Amino acid sequence: MLKEKIEKALNEQINKELYSAYLYLSMSAYAETLGMPGTANWMKIQAQEELSHANKFFDYVHERDGKVTLMPIDAVPNEFGSVKQMFDKVLEHEQYITASINNLVDIAIEINDHASRSMLMWFVDEQVEEEASAQAIIDQLNMVEGKGHGLFMIDKELGSRTFTDPTQEA
Ligand code: FEO
Repeated sequence: MLKEKIEKALNEQINKELYSAYLYLSMSAYAETLGMPGTANWMKIQAQEELSHANKFFDYVHERDGKVTLMPIDAVPNEFGSVKQMFDKVLEHEQYITASINNLVDIAIEINDHASRSMLMWFVDEQVEEEASAQAIIDQLNMVEGKGHGLFMIDKELGSRTFTDPTQEA
């Protein structure tokens, strides 16, 4: 049985993951308006990953005989500036999510909930990847400084991303 403090925080995290999916879907739509189909694809897959994160928390709360309470999802921005500015916002958002996961780990330790702490370690590792992949794209964008051909090549590469559910990987 989940203690109330962690149950509440896990429910808030489900909301943050769903908000993340909504945010990246909005970025995907925005990338379409910029004529960047590869970036739009990358963002759409990122949104799917966020849904898988929300699902992992959702299932875990039930596994521990807790109660899932879905809350309203905040509205997301619809404008994100240049492609580089948009990926800066991706990294910033992932850093915010990392801090939120770390806070959950702190709560699990505080209340001696070893099962939650163990489950959360998956997310600690996942956040390292989330931040690293955003940073790698920012580094590439810095190299081409928003210039035509380089930007076109990066967009093409982002278009090759396909969805594999990270929660199902070994
Ligand atoms: Fe669910 Fe991108 O962190």
